[in-house]
Amino acid sequence: IDELLADGVAGKRVFVRADLNVPLDGTTITDDGRIRAVVPTVKALAEAGARVVVASHLGRPKGAPDPAFSLAPAAARLGELLGTDVAFATDTVGESATSTVASLTDGQVAVIENLRFNAGETAKEDAERAAFAERLAALADVYVGDGFGAVHRKHASVFDLPARLPHYAGYLITTEVGVLKKLTEDVERPYAVVLGGSKVSDKLAVIDQLLGKADRILVGGGMVFTFLAAKGHEVGASLLQQDQLPAVREYIERAEKNGVELVLPVDVVTSAEFPDLKTKAPSDPRTVAADAIPADQMGLDIGPETRKLYASRIADAATVFWNGPMGVFEHPDYAEGTRAVAQALVDSPAFSVVGGGDSAAAVRILGFDENAFGHISTGGGASLEYLEGKTLPGLAALED
Ligand code: 3PG
Repeated sequence: IDELLADGVAGKRVFVRADLNVPLDGTTITDDGRIRAVVPTVKALAEAGARVVVASHLGRPKGAPDPAFSLAPAAARLGELLGTDVAFATDTVGESATSTVASLTDGQVAVIENLRFNAGETAKEDAERAAFAERLAALADVYVGDGFGAVHRKHASVFDLPARLPHYAGYLITTEVGVLKKLTEDVERPYAVVLGGSKVSDKLAVIDQLLGKADRILVGGGMVFTFLAAKGHEVGASLLQQDQLPAVREYIERAEKNGVELVLPVDVVTSAEFPDLKTKAPSDPRTVAADAIPADQMGLDIGPETRKLYASRIADAATVFWNGPMGVFEHPDYAEGTRAVAQALVDSPAFSVVGGGDSAAAVRILGFDENAFGHISTGGGASLEYLEGKTLPGLAALED
């Protein structure tokens, strides 16, 4: 983007593909991290006199307009953060988008409606995506990719559109890729990885890669019960992916063979029922040994001994990558594991990278200062797929 700015963008229509896919409670944004992350790029372009057209997806609407997934709240928040009026187009490539973009003056910013309101955005058929990309291309002179959270999607605005316009990487993508590249190519050791989240099936490919890269892997979240079951422990009513047991057993063996320290909980916080996340009404948490979870109990967080253990394995690492909460952090009874890991990252002199929508949101929702971490990624799936070593369509399209 510096190259683009140096060449001059005054008067040019610049399409910024952002990732404004923020969590919403009705129309209230509960975590605006992804919007703040794109501000430097939008601001730099606007200050240089570009006519900035910001576009994004939000949620997973079914290829047609759906008010529940409108980008209007995100557009309003972007305006607040920029300290300027941001125009909003109520469609993506129709009359509203065309006239909104046409009426922009130099330095003004517009947001167009959710790209996924058009089926062409996510179409599997190349021709269908291309047709939508052509219509988007008509809105702009230049493309800036800055939606890091979506670069793993082969979608029209991510993959097909940059091929149709002069294209550049924004500040966010440049920073994100710089950090993740360091983790994959030039990591300082000991390299500790903390993995959480609910399903182990979402993490298989990244675990596979990390078994050859990390020095230690600390596991928490719902996925840990498949690890505990693979070791032959009773997991009671906890989340268990039975079909993943063979893969997890193989990982446990491989970790041993490769000298990767695989750290599992020694105790867990359980409850007989899943807590009410809306009312956050007090539940009935218990702490039990991780190898003997009672049949009627489900594990919902790592326990106090495990928190200490994980903090000690983080404390002397030189690099830490963390993806996925340790428990149901949205409820105060089960937030301590996630809080302890975040605190350990803050206290450790290690270069810490928080990857993943959920862990990034957890850090903010639990009230941590973002600047206390080395880097908080805006990409959930995107940062994991980068670490898996996959070619990401949105990066490939910018690099060509
Ligand atoms: C994300 O939240 O990981 C990105 O915004 C991508 O969203 P998606 O998983 O719906 O494609």
